[in-house]
Amino acid sequence: METLNVQSFYGIFKDISLIVHSSVQLDEVFELVVWKVTEAFQAKGALLRVHNPQTDQFEVTAVYGMNEQYLSKGAVSTEKIVDGDIKNKKPVIIEDLWNEPRVEYPQWAWDEGVRMIVDTPLYLGDKLISILRLYFTEKRSFSNKDLEFLVAIATQCACAINKIKLIESQQDQFEQLAIQTEKLSALGRMAAGIAHEINNPLAGILLYSTHMKKKLPKESPLKENLDVIISETTRCKSTIQELLDFSREREPVKSLRNINAIIKRAMDILENEFYLKHITLNTHLSGDIPEVPLDANQIEQVLINLLLNSIQAISRKDGVIQVRSRINENRTNLVVEIEDNGCGIASKNLDKIFDPFFTTKANGSGLGMSVSYGIVQNHKGDIQVSSKEGRGTRFCITIPVGSDGQTSAGDTRGHEE
Ligand SMILES: Nc1ncnc2c1ncn2[C@@H]1O[C@H](COP(=O)(O)OP(=O)(O)OP(=O)(O)O)[C@@H](O)[C@H]1O
Ligand SMILES: [Mg+2]
Repeated sequence: METLNVQSFYGIFKDISLIVHSSVQLDEVFELVVWKVTEAFQAKGALLRVHNPQTDQFEVTAVYGMNEQYLSKGAVSTEKIVDGDIKNKKPVIIEDLWNEPRVEYPQWAWDEGVRMIVDTPLYLGDKLISILRLYFTEKRSFSNKDLEFLVAIATQCACAINKIKLIESQQDQFEQLAIQTEKLSALGRMAAGIAHEINNPLAGILLYSTHMKKKLPKESPLKENLDVIISETTRCKSTIQELLDFSREREPVKSLRNINAIIKRAMDILENEFYLKHITLNTHLSGDIPEVPLDANQIEQVLINLLLNSIQAISRKDGVIQVRSRINENRTNLVVEIEDNGCGIASKNLDKIFDPFFTTKANGSGLGMSVSYGIVQNHKGDIQVSSKEGRGTRFCITIPVGSDGQTSAGDTRGHEE
């Protein structure tokens, strides 16, 4: 006897497709699958087990037409449930409930009038994601066509389950991102508060130590100690200032500026550092860049942060830093690239370098990149990084040329050499 005719096959196919497109709750999909398949095959009921990759077990996720106690059936290990025909992506027909190890509680089934069971694997490609069990109250003979129908429907169910799982995991990721953003802004507020509290006492220490130094006789041995106090306190103050700048996200004060002039100033400031580390500086500044609305001080700070990082990344004798400026092809963005042949950034750290306080240096504050990122964002621009450990690093800053910042900074991404 054929259990399914073509009409009911397409009927259930349509139903399962509808599930794929309408339902976004995994639980609902499971419920609908067991219900629809039971009806389509005029079975007594159905039970769905889904693979849990964490435990490598198949867990009961939905039951239809059977006693509620089936829902509390324990998880089954993969090796116990995946054998023979299931491995070959085929349904397993069980006629003798009492002598089949796949049936864990034959008495339950028998008491409910079950006389035959069919297990169908739900494969997605080569991945077995679920097993669907159908319960029948009488023995039936299944034609090959019936079994093909069953497998086709199982595949459709597998697609539905997979799609919803994907949507759910994306939702999870979005939620985690939102939590992280909230944590970061709370951290920023806390940091601003602490920085403010520390700034005042530091100013006091600086004032009194400078005063004391002036009062000491010329040859006093204490002078050296006071110098250490003054220089260390000054260092703390500048770190605190960076922190304050970062958490305040100061709005840029823009005026029309020539980026090349700002680049040259930043390089002048660091001239000694380049000289001391024997670093060759190669500059290619395009003369074709229009004046652009920029906060010169802030952009200079970004360039200094990036150049300092490059200098600090270089330990070799033939260190080279390349600085390039240009306008992108469609003249919407100015582009500044800073490239070094220093130690590079480990790929696992690449997406952390813009996080506040992330540093791999013993004396780093981990604020340089996050401050720079904030500044470029305030100019409606973007910073891209590419790096190879042991080979070097390249940063690419893009800033829109338009004063309203309407042009997309992302335009240049595809043009990176
Ligand atoms: N050009 C580069 N080459 C190699 N690593 C880099 C480079 N630029 C940034 N990094 C990595 O990114 C991390 C974060 O940089 P960031 O400038 O924010 O902080 P920092 O340099 O450690 O401390 P500071 O606040 O003093 O600048 C660095 O510790 C380093 O690991
Ligand atoms: Mg730095």
